[in-house]
Amino acid sequence: MIGEIKFLKDYKEVQKVYEFVKKFPLDYPNFFVWLDKCKKQLETGDKKSFYATSNGQIIGSVIFQTERRESSVLEIKNFRVAEEHSRKGVGSALEIMVCSYAKFNSYNKIQIDTHQNNLTMIQFLIKKGYTIEAEEYLYLLDKPEVILVKKL
Ligand SMILES: CC(C)(COP(=O)(O)OP(=O)(O)OC[C@H]1O[C@@H](n2cnc3c(N)ncnc32)[C@H](O)[C@@H]1OP(=O)(O)O)[C@@H](O)C(=O)NCCC(=O)NCCS
Repeated sequence: MIGEIKFLKDYKEVQKVYEFVKKFPLDYPNFFVWLDKCKKQLETGDKKSFYATSNGQIIGSVIFQTERRESSVLEIKNFRVAEEHSRKGVGSALEIMVCSYAKFNSYNKIQIDTHQNNLTMIQFLIKKGYTIEAEEYLYLLDKPEVILVKKL
């Protein structure tokens, strides 16, 4: 198995990442509307992505952008490793790339929110040096989000 981490650069790659993320619908209102908008934003470079491949297939991706209200903050919008490839360091490799990108581009913080019951994601992020900053009802009335940050 030859694994690689790549920075998304062209339309063909946008399509592949889009199709990968589409396989894992999330419990957010209008997820597919969001995803279609996200695809356009990846094409314009407004959103950016690193993705992991194994034998030419995408097995993980992370999508991020400059936080809309605070330009010194990099916000991760979607992070996913395919379950059959979990616990092999793929998520760690993607996180390292985002972190390096953020430092290189002078962001001072990385931020991500996830459902309060997404314990795998929360534990993963805490292991990577993130701390819980707040809990807020951002998308669903019955499910709060945990906001985690990593200071750079
Ligand atoms: C969280 C996630 C990104 C981890 O990816 P991964 O490639 O398995 O992570 P790694 O192999 O790099 O694991 C690094 C560390 O994270 C922690 N970790 C990863 N998966 C974990 C799990 N299921 N339970 C507890 N800790 C976990 C461990 O400490 C692990 O280190 P270890 O294997 O040495 O114990 C992946 O499980 C995933 O995509 N989950 C779904 C994410 C999601 O819901 N995204 C949508 C909201 S943004």
